[in-house]
Amino acid sequence: MEQRIIENAKTFIKELLGNDAGGHDESHSLRVYETAVRLAESENADVFKTALAALLHDVDDVKLFPDTYRDKKHARAFMASQGIDEATQNEICSIIAMVSFRGTDSTVPDSIEGKCVQDADRLDAIGAIGVGRAFAYGGSRGRKMYDPDVPPKMNMNEAQYRASDSNTINHFYEKLFLLNDMLNTESARRIGERRTKYMREFVEEFILETKGER
Ligand code: ADP
Ligand code: NI
Repeated sequence: MEQRIIENAKTFIKELLGNDAGGHDESHSLRVYETAVRLAESENADVFKTALAALLHDVDDVKLFPDTYRDKKHARAFMASQGIDEATQNEICSIIAMVSFRGTDSTVPDSIEGKCVQDADRLDAIGAIGVGRAFAYGGSRGRKMYDPDVPPKMNMNEAQYRASDSNTINHFYEKLFLLNDMLNTESARRIGERRTKYMREFVEEFILETKGER
């Protein structure tokens, strides 16, 4: 039964997210799902709830679906279609609502399942995959890769972060380098350390190359 729901959720996100070019495509949600399940296993969290919240975490994302964002209409419609009770629906929606990075307004989920989903989503924003997604996102918005004359804006709140049109290298300073210290679980932090070190080396090389020093 639960396995069937997970498989149906994969089909649902494929139809809804497909090939979004801005870094929220189906493959992102599938990676978050795989990582979240691994974290849930090490943290003794409820694997089904973690898996379901991970698969559904972007189906009402404010950037992609501003009209369903508030009531989590897509997530609720899917869960209702699978016969999931309302209490569980509320639990999953409250996890989804806390996952996203919101600058200084970011929240720490109050359940271990939520912590695993948030960590998995953040791990997918860093490391080599993070570099790839950042440039894909920047390209999809027509942003510059780098502008040495524009300094990064630190300590942005949610509204400032959402309104920001930062170039991609600045995004590393404004978000991606901060994520490792915001991870909730020990298991995620071990992966985060390595991925963050890799990204820092990448950005250092990138800037040296633009200066003609490499
Ligand atoms: P979340 O998954 O926490 O909701 P976002 O929706 O803000 O995060 O970001 C989705 C993806 O797009 C992430 O990989 C993120 O790093 C990337 N991204 C967001 N803003 C920018 C930006 N200004 N430049 C480059 N990449 C960005
Ligand atoms: Ni995500």
